Amino acid sequence: MTTTVRTLGRRQIDPALREALARVYLGAYGDPALPESRLDAENFVHSTLDRHARRAGFRLVVAETDGTVTGYGYGFTGRRGQFWSDWLTGAAPEDIVREWVGDHFELADLVVHPDHRGQGISGLLHDHLVAGLPQEKALLATVPDRGPADRLYTGRGWQVLVPEIDGPKALFGLDLRSRPAE
Ligand SMILES: CC(C)(COP(=O)(O)OP(=O)(O)OC[C@H]1O[C@@H](n2cnc3c(N)ncnc32)[C@H](O)[C@@H]1OP(=O)(O)O)[C@@H](O)C(=O)NCCC(=O)NCCS
Repeated sequence: MTTTVRTLGRRQIDPALREALARVYLGAYGDPALPESRLDAENFVHSTLDRHARRAGFRLVVAETDGTVTGYGYGFTGRRGQFWSDWLTGAAPEDIVREWVGDHFELADLVVHPDHRGQGISGLLHDHLVAGLPQEKALLATVPDRGPADRLYTGRGWQVLVPEIDGPKALFGLDLRSRPAE
């Protein structure tokens, strides 16, 4: 099987891609048999993704395996005044906020369809998503449980900045300035 990754901007999100992203989202976060899960996936591709795609620095990466969309990841420039940045400002220690929050790359989500996990697709998506980013820092939140997401990020230089920031989720940061020159 061959997997390729494309890097896209807001204007390249067309109806066919939306449908494919909804399928991946539904497989990862919902139960395709449940109407409420299908609504949630529709809400993601028609509302949340559109709102995030209008933010400065938006970047979407899409993995295709033998012609089928198997995963995606996206993020944008995080700024004060946005929900998560403002929330972090209250939830994280002052020194972390000062050093990390504001004009960072906010990795909002990275997902691989369950049928295609364990093949290294998330690593490909990650590397395309962060390649050549202009920001100095990147942030995300996920559970530090030594599961696939934790291993994906810690294996690629992300560090836990705040162990419990949002229930079981930790705040992870990546210093983009320490990347080797491309
Ligand atoms: C996290 C996720 C994207 C990983 O996708 P994937 O393509 O299957 O991951 P990979 O095959 O690239 O594996 C990633 C790492 O996890 C490890 N891994 C894979 N399956 C694992 C498992 N069942 N248990 C523990 N580690 C596992 C891999 O060995 C790899 O680590 P390594 O680089 O040290 O070898 C996928 O599980 C997913 O979509 N989860 C739901 C959404 C989510 O939680 N996203 C992250 C939040 S931003």
